[in-house]
Amino acid sequence: MALIGQDIAQAKQLLEQGQLVAIPTETVYGLAGNALNPDAVLSIFTAKDRPSFDPLIVHTDSIEKAERWVKYFPTPLKSLAKEVWPGPLTILLPKKELIPDIVTSGLETVGIRIPHHPLTLSLLQSLDFPLAAPSANPFGYISPTQAEHVNQQLGDLIPYILDGGACQVGIESTIVAWENNRLHVLRLGGLSVEVIETLSKQKVVLNLNQSSNPQAPGMLKSHYAPRKPMHIGNIDELIKKYKDKRIGVLSFQRDVPNTTIQRILSPTGDTHEASKNLFRFLRELDQSEAEVLITEFVPEYDLGRAINDRLQRATYSE
Ligand code: TXA
Ligand code: MG
Repeated sequence: MALIGQDIAQAKQLLEQGQLVAIPTETVYGLAGNALNPDAVLSIFTAKDRPSFDPLIVHTDSIEKAERWVKYFPTPLKSLAKEVWPGPLTILLPKKELIPDIVTSGLETVGIRIPHHPLTLSLLQSLDFPLAAPSANPFGYISPTQAEHVNQQLGDLIPYILDGGACQVGIESTIVAWENNRLHVLRLGGLSVEVIETLSKQKVVLNLNQSSNPQAPGMLKSHYAPRKPMHIGNIDELIKKYKDKRIGVLSFQRDVPNTTIQRILSPTGDTHEASKNLFRFLRELDQSEAEVLITEFVPEYDLGRAINDRLQRATYSE
């Protein structure tokens, strides 16, 4: 198992040696390596069992540093970055050659993000290279929102996990790009479309149907998935349908009696509380004695849209 602690100097030393360290962010834990070192980046793909065509996000701690890695930063995106960073937003920008091709899976753009977590920001400030970091889970499985989640699955493969507690947002960053003079959202995430539209004072183009695009498997139809079969729809009807099985229920607000196990995303109906709980609850249900998992869509506003996106992909086996 990996060592778990809060020693930034140790994390820094390992990263400088080309090793991997799991890092906390406000969204999910990342599996970080030196983004400028192709060998370190390759070991990220290996540890996650991630296909090489799935590009990584590069994390840094200031817009000035970000500008070292990109050819240009369109003004509307930079204004948005200034408002949101550090925060749950990844921006696709044309990369300089300095960023190895393996990071971006050969794409001309690189996803850049300044994460909002004090430990990771201190770590990034102490480094003279950015950190490539996908979510710290085996490819396709539920993303980790606590140090222990990382340890359970990748603990034997990495030396150190920087423990920053439970992730406050709980789902991955929203990914945006600037194309044809419009702001495009490529992945729904921890910054809602409503907030992006308010801050940028423009309607965004939703460009989420990337499932057939092998360059963006974060948008694959099946992703973020528990190992147990999970079904989404009307909870009462699904309970009738699977009445012969031990059922685990993930509901939005409602208490559902007489199930083997239940988790309620947000008893008060708050999509932010729900997103914070989502991946931890999915894990708990997956590890429970339930044989089949049942869930429902949450309201389509604020972070509800991103939650529904994750639930949809998690139940694709249907
Ligand atoms: O919140 C997050 O974004 C977390 C934390 C650790 O920062 N990271 C994360 O990384 O979710 P990952 O690797 O699990 O998802 C990144 C996704 C990829 O699957 C890909 O779809 C998209 O970002 N991506 C990255 N670079 C891209 C690029 N240049 N063009 C298109 N999509 C890109
Ligand atoms: Mg991921």
